[in-house]
Parts: sequence; structure tokens; C-alpha cells
Amino acid sequence: MTFFTIAVFLFFFILVLILADQLGKFLWSTGKQNEAKELDGPRHKIGDLLSNTGGYTYLMLGLAVLGLMVFLYSQLAGSPYEGHIKEWMNLLVRWVHITFGIAWIGTSFYFVFLENSLNRTKGLRDGIAGNLWSVHGGGFYYIEKYKVAPEKIPEELHWFKYEAYFTWLSGFLLLCVVYYLNANSYLIDKQVMDLSPSQGVAIGIGMLILGWLLYDLVCKTPIVKNGMLFAILGFLVVTGFAWAFTQVFAPRAAYIHVGALLGTFMAGNVFFVIIPAQKAMVNAAIAGKEVDARLGQHARLRSFHNNYMTLPVLFIMISNHFPSTFGHEYNWLILAAISLASAIFKHFLNIIESGRYAAWVFPIAAMMMMSIVFMTAPDTGGKCDSKIAFSRVYNIINERCTTCHSSRPTDKVWSAPPNGVVYDTPEDIQKMSEKIMQRVVITKNMPQNNQTGMTEEERELVRCWIMQGAKIE
Ligand code: HEC
Repeated sequence: MTFFTIAVFLFFFILVLILADQLGKFLWSTGKQNEAKELDGPRHKIGDLLSNTGGYTYLMLGLAVLGLMVFLYSQLAGSPYEGHIKEWMNLLVRWVHITFGIAWIGTSFYFVFLENSLNRTKGLRDGIAGNLWSVHGGGFYYIEKYKVAPEKIPEELHWFKYEAYFTWLSGFLLLCVVYYLNANSYLIDKQVMDLSPSQGVAIGIGMLILGWLLYDLVCKTPIVKNGMLFAILGFLVVTGFAWAFTQVFAPRAAYIHVGALLGTFMAGNVFFVIIPAQKAMVNAAIAGKEVDARLGQHARLRSFHNNYMTLPVLFIMISNHFPSTFGHEYNWLILAAISLASAIFKHFLNIIESGRYAAWVFPIAAMMMMSIVFMTAPDTGGKCDSKIAFSRVYNIINERCTTCHSSRPTDKVWSAPPNGVVYDTPEDIQKMSEKIMQRVVITKNMPQNNQTGMTEEERELVRCWIMQGAKIE
């Protein structure tokens, strides 16, 4: 790419931004006019969707940025800049994803707290289910919850949905940027199953859709009314999916797909059930009809499911930093056990927030976590008899690792050392010896997918060298 192309490109990009801004403003002002007219007429769907301040502008900007990324990627694919642009796409999309995720989980935790902590007994007005006083950021707040709906729906009613939608969208985009665009190095592990990238992507997306359909179906049967039965069934089915993912994908990709599956349940619940139910309730109230309380109940149930899925999802999102979880031989069981422990912990929070007694719930979750730590403890292997000379280890590392882990990698995919880890000098190696033990000996997930063909004897040599104190003289 020459300087000229970049200049032309930037010019067009700025042009698109200006257009987006103008179009956004125009649509926004017509949206507002429609809103003013709408009060007694039918509601405009698109106007509804984006009538928030500048919503259109953001949509246009989002599309422009997405277009920019796709364009840049198509221009740079195959060039030495490919790795660089992928890294920045990864960074930006991840940043957006965690920001929306925090906003979503944050509001969700807040409303669960609210629901749990409402005063439902003392001095309530007619038609009010509960109220709550709070102080935050130097101000006092007083909140009331209605039993069903207020007599007149207020003009300014705040909804909470974009946090969920954008978390899902950015999460899916991140899945594409990290796993689907790099399918050969991240999604697929030929020792697990020999897939082509497109097969891998199709299986990943297909299982997400299948999972949602299954979950939604079960939620429409009477099983859902029996909370305990539903929880056990749901837990077993998700564990089944976790197992299935580990049978087709590289371990880390398998984990992230379970996270994506749960995230899809949660966002799907918001998009397909909770928000439509709320819209129907609002419409009924506006039309002066009686609001069907079952709508609210079903939406509450789905939001209750979401509540228990949050901590498992958050664990999975950070799990890819922890090879003793996804790298374990029974990684799907570890995932299931940690998820269960964290859901029990969430249950504990729910109970204490509502002021009930919960002596044993937290210790059970803590004990489960401790047994998982114990179960995943490494097998350090046998005794090392002969002294291992560093030169032998140095040769192994040079042969098996430095194609990726050097300041100038020769690997096709890695144009910069992964995670900034380099093994150029003996000191570099010594410094990292603990992590090398973790990844090469214990979890054996380095070299990545064993692309450089490291042998068991070599792993054994590295192990003994580290056990003997990782000396480099
Ligand atoms: C094909 C490229 C490739 C090869 C070869 C390779 N690695 Fe890696 N390595 C990666 C990637 C990608 C990551 C980052 C993702 C991860 O943590 O798994 C990584 C991460 C690591 C980490 C974790 C660093 C951290 O900050 O947590 C260690 C340790 C490591 N590699 C050691 C090794 C050793 C030792 C070898 C040789 C025996 C090796 N790697 C060979 C690609 C490779």
C-alpha cells in the first residue's frame, strides 16, 4: 500500500463520516417529528429502534468503521501488514465488546439487586409492588416498582436493550476476527479433528443456532416451570455442548464457543422474549387494555436464566488466559464444574441481597472451586537422573519455538512475537521457564497445535532442565 492509496482512502473515509453525520442528523430530526405526530398514531418501527439521541449517526458511523475494517483487511490480506491490521481489529473490537458487556452485566446486576432488595412491606402506595431508597454519586434516589404497569405510560420511558444487542454483535465480530479469520491457527486443531476453515466456521455458527433453538424450545414447554428440573436439564445440555465443542475444535476455541452459546441465549432472551414482551405490555397499557401479567412473568423468567448465566460467561471470556482450564485432558468437565460453582455463587448473592439466610451456599461454591484447583494440579513427572546441559534445551527452543517467539518471527501467521514472548537469548528463556513448564510440559499446548513437531523426549528434556533449576551456564 502506497502513501497515495492511504491518502485517497482517508479522504473517502472522512467523506463517508461527514455524509453519515449529515444523514444521521436528518433522520434523527425526522424521527423526532414522527415521534411528535405518533403519540396517537401507529409507531414507526425504525423510528422506535433508533430514536435515541444521535442513534442514526452512531449506526452510520458504526457501518462506516465496519466498512473501513473490511476494506483495509481486503487490501492488506497476504501482505506483511495482515498480522498488524488483525491485531488492531482484535484490540478495537475487544475493547468495544468489553465496554458494552460491562454496561449490560452492570445494569443487569443492578436490576437484579433492585428486585431482590425492594422494600415490599412498609408504607406502599396503591398499585406499588415495592420501593427502594439509595444514595450514589452524591445524590439520593427513590425508586418504585409497579405491580403491573402505571395507569398512564410516561412519555420518557428508558429501555435497556442496546447494551445486550451490541455486546452480542461485537462479541460475534470478535469471534470472527480472532477465531474465524485465523481458523487454521486458532479454531482448528488437526489432532482434534481435521477440518477446513469453512467447515469449522459452519460448525461453530451452526451449533450456536441449534443451541438457541433447543433452549428456546425447552423454555416453551412446562419443564420451565420446574426451576430445579430445568436447571439440571439445562446444565446437562450445555455440558453436552461443551463436550461436543471439544471434540471438533482446538480447546480454547471450544471454550469460547460455549461462552458464545451462553451469550447467545442471554442476548436472544433479551431480543426475542424480554423486549417484545415489554413492548406488548406498553402497547396494551397505551391502548387502555388490561396488561397480560403472564407476559411480564415469562420475561422475568428469561431474565432469571440470564442472571445465572452471567458468571459462567464471564469465566469463559477470561478462560483463554488459563491453560490449566482449557488445556486439561477433561477440559469440558472443568468448564462444567467451574460454571456450576459460579452459578451457585450467584445464587448466594441473590439470596443475601433479598435478606434471606444462606449459611451453606457460599461454602459449597468455594469448596467446589477448591476441589477444581486440586483436580487440575499438574503431574510433575518422575525424577530426573542425569544433568541436562542448557545447550540441548537452547537447541530445542531454537528449533521448535523461535519461528514464532522471536523479535523477527519467520512464521507465516505471526509477524510479531505472540504475546510479546521472545526466546532470542538464554536469559529470555530462563526468565520464562515457569511459563514454559506450564505450556510445554503440563498442558502441552505449546508449540501452538504442535506446528513445529516437538517430540515427547524434547518435552521431557525441557522438564528436567527446569526441575534442575533452569540454569543457563
Ligand atoms: C506457531 C507459532 C508458535 C510456536 C511455534 C510456539 N508458540 Fe508459544 N505462543 C504462540 C501464540 C499464538 C501464543 C499466544 C496465545 C497463547 O497464549 O496460547 C503463544 C504463547 C506462548 C506462551 C504464553 C505467554 C504468556 O504471556 O502467557 C508461552 C510460555 C509460549 N507460547 C511458549 C512457547 C514455547 C516454549 C514454544 C516452543 C516449544 C512455543 N511457544 C512455540 C505461538 C507459538
